[in-house]
Amino acid sequence: MPVITTIDDLKRIYKRRTPKMFYDYAETGSWTEQTFRENTSDFDRIRLRQRVAVDMTNRTTKTQMIGQDVAMPVALAPVGLTGMQCADGEIKAAKAAEKFGVPFTLSTLSICSIEDVAENTTKPFWFQVYTLKDDDFMRRLFDRARDAGCSAIVITLDLQVQGQRHKDLKNGLSAPPKLTMASIANLATKWGWGLQMLQTKRRTFGNVIGHAKGVSDPSSLSSWTAEAFDHALDWKRVADLMKMWGGKVILKGIMDVEDAKMAAKLGADAIIVSNHGGRQLDGALSSIRMLPAILDAVGDKVEVHLDSGIRSGQDVLKAMAMGAKGTYIGRAFVYGLGAMGEKGVTTALNVIHKELDTTMALCGKRDIQDVDRDILLVPKYFEGSWA
Ligand SMILES: Cc1cc2nc3c(=O)[nH]c(=O)nc-3n(C[C@H](O)[C@H](O)[C@H](O)COP(=O)(O)O)c2cc1C
Repeated sequence: MPVITTIDDLKRIYKRRTPKMFYDYAETGSWTEQTFRENTSDFDRIRLRQRVAVDMTNRTTKTQMIGQDVAMPVALAPVGLTGMQCADGEIKAAKAAEKFGVPFTLSTLSICSIEDVAENTTKPFWFQVYTLKDDDFMRRLFDRARDAGCSAIVITLDLQVQGQRHKDLKNGLSAPPKLTMASIANLATKWGWGLQMLQTKRRTFGNVIGHAKGVSDPSSLSSWTAEAFDHALDWKRVADLMKMWGGKVILKGIMDVEDAKMAAKLGADAIIVSNHGGRQLDGALSSIRMLPAILDAVGDKVEVHLDSGIRSGQDVLKAMAMGAKGTYIGRAFVYGLGAMGEKGVTTALNVIHKELDTTMALCGKRDIQDVDRDILLVPKYFEGSWA
């Protein structure tokens, strides 16, 4: 067994074990992938202040996200098709998150259903919803999430229309995978993945098939998806959906000060500064670059979280020191899941936790809740000067 010390180690194993179609689905951004690349490279531009001769005993990374205790401020982001990266992937990831003490967010477009995850976990998880036109479907989705004990919903606002990811079109991405000469040749080399998939019944969209009107099998799903997203979404509709749910709400995909102000005004419990991991608007700034302006505008009114580009505990620390109250990992946990199932997600969380804890210590801090911009060296004009 290789010694795993970084998220990149997990990514290498993940790439070897997972069908190309699903590896590509995760490891891509939209169009030129500029935003996808800058999400990570912008974290590298921020440096840390090394401090010495400071008491570093009794450190803690414990804090809260939307009032919920977390072992560290890192939730698992909603990732569609997680159950294609590894059989029963959502259940495995949710279990790893629960044992670690961090929130798991289930995507609407998951393979395992809300009920599947609830039956296999013991603590409440979060449920992500896309803003769909069909009120009936939304209502039933909320009812199901409530029945499953979900403690918050995450409403994703940045996917009214879908950003184009070239590789998905070229690979003919689908769940279950379409069998073409190329996909069969590739699947034949991923026998571990295939054997596990043969042992599960969960191979298509568990929250949609059999629940959305007119979608009784995977073949009818693509026409449903094309029609289902609410292109006319506005803030009034967001407010209606928040009311329809009636519980804690996190608004995801905020990349603009004006939008952040609107989200805060609606009374969201938190917002996520996120560009969907560079999968939607290519050319948008990285999340970490947008964070300071959004914090300045609404940081005292709403809890501000961040995702997109986090690949290490150092990245988490940088976001927290900037002023975020929580972060999310998408690909970083998917790499672990595809590499080694539940154990891989646990490994990813352990790697990030160790990096976070050690870096915090070397910056002279003992409590994640005490870190602030003082530990950062941010290059001049980091946020850019845009007209
Ligand atoms: C493969 C993949 C699928 C995703 N599916 C969803 C989804 O179903 N709903 C959603 O709100 N965000 C989705 N996202 C975006 C993530 O929730 C998150 O914003 C993003 O992964 C953060 O960037 P990171 O991967 O660099 O950590 C997805 C991201 C990836 C990589």
